[in-house]
Amino acid sequence: MHIAFVASECVPFSKTGGLADVIGALPRALAAAGHEVSVYVPRYRLTRIPQERTVLQSITVPFDDRYRFASILSGAGYPGVHFYFVDYPPFFDRDGLYGTSSGDFPDNAERFALFCRAVLEASKILGVPDIFHCHDWQGALVPVLLRTQYLEDPAFRGAGTVFTIHNIGYQGLFPPEILPLLTLSWDLFTITKLEFFGNVSFLKGALVCSDFITTVSRRYSQEIQTTEFGFGLEGVLKDRAQKLTGILNGVDYEEWNPETDRFIAAHYNNEDLNGKQQCKEDLLASFGMSSADTNLPLIAIVSRFAAQKGFDLIGQIIDRLALEEVLITVLGSGDKLYEEMFLRLARRVPQKFAVRIAYDNVLAHKIEAGADMFLMPSRYEPCGLSQIYSLKYGTVPIVRSTGGLDDTIDPWDMRNKKGTGFKFQEYTGDALLRTIHQALQVYRDPPSWQRLMRNGMSKDFSWKVSAREYIRVYERVHQQHTQAILV
Ligand code: ADP
Ligand code: GLC
Repeated sequence: MHIAFVASECVPFSKTGGLADVIGALPRALAAAGHEVSVYVPRYRLTRIPQERTVLQSITVPFDDRYRFASILSGAGYPGVHFYFVDYPPFFDRDGLYGTSSGDFPDNAERFALFCRAVLEASKILGVPDIFHCHDWQGALVPVLLRTQYLEDPAFRGAGTVFTIHNIGYQGLFPPEILPLLTLSWDLFTITKLEFFGNVSFLKGALVCSDFITTVSRRYSQEIQTTEFGFGLEGVLKDRAQKLTGILNGVDYEEWNPETDRFIAAHYNNEDLNGKQQCKEDLLASFGMSSADTNLPLIAIVSRFAAQKGFDLIGQIIDRLALEEVLITVLGSGDKLYEEMFLRLARRVPQKFAVRIAYDNVLAHKIEAGADMFLMPSRYEPCGLSQIYSLKYGTVPIVRSTGGLDDTIDPWDMRNKKGTGFKFQEYTGDALLRTIHQALQVYRDPPSWQRLMRNGMSKDFSWKVSAREYIRVYERVHQQHTQAILV
């Protein structure tokens, strides 16, 4: 089959979070299984394309005021995977993918509408796929357009759509006046289509119009059908439950593996953990904490700072955490509230706490390798990749049991020495602190701790299994489409 990915970020060309990791890795796993994959992403200012060339000079995208003309670039890919970049400098040649520190770009609706339309037009020349696999609200207009303005285009008769929700908290909500500017019909502004509490929701459009919906863990596929996690879309998802499934993200062990990682101070593996100590020293040095006692447990965070990630719980326990015999290193950026909270903490107890407000891939790798524990107290977490990387690096995850965190981490059981991490359910600072205490207690017993590390390191979350599940979904959708054409 030929599958076209439509997404707003992809490693190594652009990244703000786990979506980029998924778009960078899943196509390769599909290609390894014998499929042909095209990946469409925007070309941002920071995007570097090896062996760049222009494959289509001009794609016409109508807006109600005037036409816009985008180009399609390409470059080196992998066997079976072609990368295509939608190049429209007025929209994408900017610092940041979705906005600046003062907020989202005001023209995000236009930016990603142009992106989706350019993908459809480009694919008519470069090859219409059997399946458009679209991701998050930025790719959501593809299934909407195929069901509406492009419904009668014979080029797309055989093309099915699969839509993956990576995070239902980001919906692409815009005022209704956006519809004419995007040359979308007012007919779409109804409760069964794009209308969502008086606004236009790109995400809702995709949930209604796609042939099949997936999300990134089984647990999250159930959670988003409830009012607690559905962000108002739970009803739509319940209606489509027969066409909704959860497929756990895999991870790319070529990028995230302590045996081969090019960014870390020493290599190690399940049999020989020795290098990890050197990684811990290197990490502490990177945070200016070379004089810290390396026997103390080191708890780390690498994250976008957003309400989703549960850092308000850390705010609740800060005073008590400051008294513990632990070291904490934090890497992240985003919401000012959390940036300031972590900076305050570092100022208060600089000998134990260190914070770097940045996006830094090399440091993220050093942290995965050098820390003893990785903290993700998320309020909700569709899948979460960092905790899966942590497992491989023998860095024990402490997580809240929600979404993919719940699906990937098994609680440590002292009696039978099984389990890979520590989990808590109740969303309170007290529950978090209790769980940190539990972890610290096991840390003080080195044989148990090493067993726990090794349990995690031996887990396999490579893409192979999940890619197979996606292929089953593609086949199901493809079959429906070919049958529909025959009828
Ligand atoms: P999310 O996609 O919600 O941010 P995930 O756990 O799925 O959460 O993925 C996060 C990805 O982004 C991981 O690869 C992690 O290493 C990376 N990451 C997050 N914050 C930073 C940062 N400040 N610097 C470098 N990498 C980061
Ligand atoms: C989103 C989610 C995260 C998930 C990632 C990749 O950013 O917040 O949990 O791992 O997408 O699917």
